[in-house]
Amino acid sequence: MARILSGIQPSGQLHLGNYCGAVAQWVELQREHDCFIFVASYHALTTSESALELAARTRQIAIDLIALGIDPVRTCLYRQHDVPEVCELSWLLACVCPMSLADKGVSYKDKVAKGFDANLGLYTYPILQAADILAPRAEIVPVGRDQIQHIEIARDLAERFNRRWGEVFVVPRYRLAEAAEVLPGIDGQKMSKSYGNTIDPFADERTLRKRIMAIKSDSTPLDQPKDPESDPTFRIFRAVAGRDDPRTRELEAKYRQPPPGGFGYGHAKQALFELLLERFAAARRRREELLADPAEVERILAAGAARARSIAAATVAQARRACGLL
Ligand code: ADP
Ligand code: TRP
Repeated sequence: MARILSGIQPSGQLHLGNYCGAVAQWVELQREHDCFIFVASYHALTTSESALELAARTRQIAIDLIALGIDPVRTCLYRQHDVPEVCELSWLLACVCPMSLADKGVSYKDKVAKGFDANLGLYTYPILQAADILAPRAEIVPVGRDQIQHIEIARDLAERFNRRWGEVFVVPRYRLAEAAEVLPGIDGQKMSKSYGNTIDPFADERTLRKRIMAIKSDSTPLDQPKDPESDPTFRIFRAVAGRDDPRTRELEAKYRQPPPGGFGYGHAKQALFELLLERFAAARRRREELLADPAEVERILAAGAARARSIAAATVAQARRACGLL
């Protein structure tokens, strides 16, 4: 059993890409490991413009995670800002971080290129992320490919601190989702909230159907075979149902049917719609219950924070002693 930790920013509605690329993996891992999952509210503040929105989204993501299967009995689920020790730790780490290492951060350059304000929080984002990981002594960090550099920076900072001040930190490593496929959005590009091409697994039936019917497809006629690999509807179906699921194989065979065929993209979209309704039926019900019971959500998050905080406080105390803050 390893200690696992990961986080997600509350910077928009959770979408199917987040689910397939991150959340589904966390739900699996919690069966066998000691898991810490948090809502990265301090990180979201680097690009946030509304206090009300940040608060509402933080809460909503927590609810969605629980609804999707993060089990608060197995997983320590918390809000990042309920563990303020990570801020102190990020200072201790900043003091062993060479400018050249911080300068390498690609996420800062990306965000600036996307037009976000170049604030110092964005620049030091990876140092806070390192503190998130090192404070609870995580060994494994399951993330998407875009986060590899951040985990490497965390490793580097842990090693530098340990070399300079003595062995305090566990050096973490990352783990990519097995099928680490990037899920396409309805326009065929990477599904991402910044492209407005996402599918919300919690959307109401009408909206969900409309969204799925709007997935881009080519104009191959009904009687001709179609290439499933280049079709976003098929790829989303496969990511949700699973590669080896008989329904995936059956759908693939229908795409490849030689003339007279008779299977069109409309049929594939209908199949995806039905799959999503079925796959997320329990999650939708659980989400409604949680929305109606804010006290329960608060209780879960407070319990998670208390546990994460006590471990983080012990690590930070050890780090303070090591570097002479007596
Ligand atoms: P977005 O691109 O919508 O802003 P985030 O960067 O907040 O998403 O991603 C949160 C988590 O979800 C990360 O672990 C990321 O790797 C994963 N993720 C996001 N989009 C996808 C996608 N299209 N396919 C697979 N995983 C994704
Ligand atoms: N940067 C991550 C993302 O945008 C979120 C995050 C913050 C995180 N701290 C973390 C992920 C620590 C893993 C571990 O997806």
